[in-house]
Amino acid sequence: MSSAAEETLIVVKPDAVKRGLIGEVLKRFEARGFSVRELRMLTMSKGQAQKFYAVHSEKPFFPELVAFISSGPVVGAVISGRDAVATVRRMVGATKAWEAAAGTVRGDLALGLTDNVIHASDSSDSFAKERAAFFGG
Ligand code: CMP
Repeated sequence: MSSAAEETLIVVKPDAVKRGLIGEVLKRFEARGFSVRELRMLTMSKGQAQKFYAVHSEKPFFPELVAFISSGPVVGAVISGRDAVATVRRMVGATKAWEAAAGTVRGDLALGLTDNVIHASDSSDSFAKERAAFFGG
């Protein structure tokens, strides 16, 4: 059943950390009723970034993506609550931030593509892999 409590991962990207938006981003998920279960700030190594974004390794934008996500501190949070994977993705908004609906994180805070403020897992399977890459196995 899609309403079951589950976990997902969000990562506040380097552009958003630099702009002082960590609290603004996390606040939205807490205000919605989700809980923050794990939280860590770190700067990814190139290797960690390649593992984190392994699903995109064949894409032409992979080198740019890895360079960007490892360019400065990021904040990862495990978010828990009802239907978390799909609901958090809806709250995050479209990948191309200039197309993201107002009221979403990207629609309110971003205009970029690589620099689009936030990443969120797109499935429970991705969550498991990304959590291991971010927090360590
Ligand atoms: P994210 O949700 O973190 O997942 C992969 C990221 O790749 C995406 O957000 C974008 O920031 C980035 N990206 C860069 N170029 C592209 C592209 N052409 N299409 C999709 N994603 C891209």
